[in-house]
Amino acid sequence: MDLSPHLPSSGRALVVAAAVVDDLRTPTRLLAARRTGPSVLAGGWELPGGKVELDETPLEALHRELREELGVVVEVGPPVDGPLPGRSWLLGERYEMLVWLAVVVEGEPAAIEDHDEVRWLGAGHLFDVAWLPADLPIVERLEARFGAS
Ligand code: CDP
Repeated sequence: MDLSPHLPSSGRALVVAAAVVDDLRTPTRLLAARRTGPSVLAGGWELPGGKVELDETPLEALHRELREELGVVVEVGPPVDGPLPGRSWLLGERYEMLVWLAVVVEGEPAAIEDHDEVRWLGAGHLFDVAWLPADLPIVERLEARFGAS
């Protein structure tokens, strides 16, 4: 029995993240979250998310991570396709990441777990925070979708 149908064939572990925006069709704000650890990543800003566990699908993991880390329920929109097979994004040697647009449908994003600050960035301010290196090309890809703030 295949216990890990969602793992990439590359052997890297799968991470999921959300580009949480104010509107799926015409976003004007993007949510950034500042990591508290591990020390090499602490202080860096990321699209919130985390590792997919063996017993869940990537989208189940995405909903779980956003609930645990930010205290929100989201509606998931279209994927933000990356360059790897399977449309994921490379995160160093050990991980690759699937990303979707999402909007909050319940709750107010807060730094509950793994982060010490969350911040909404307007269209002209998407690069005002120090994104983790792996997240930077994803935000660059997202920029084209943004309207005026
Ligand atoms: O929360 P969990 O422990 O499941 O996973 P994580 O530590 O948030 O994510 C696993 C790895 O993915 C981290 O070590 C980060 O290097 C990377 N990551 C990233 O680069 N950018 C993100 N937006 C999310 C995770």
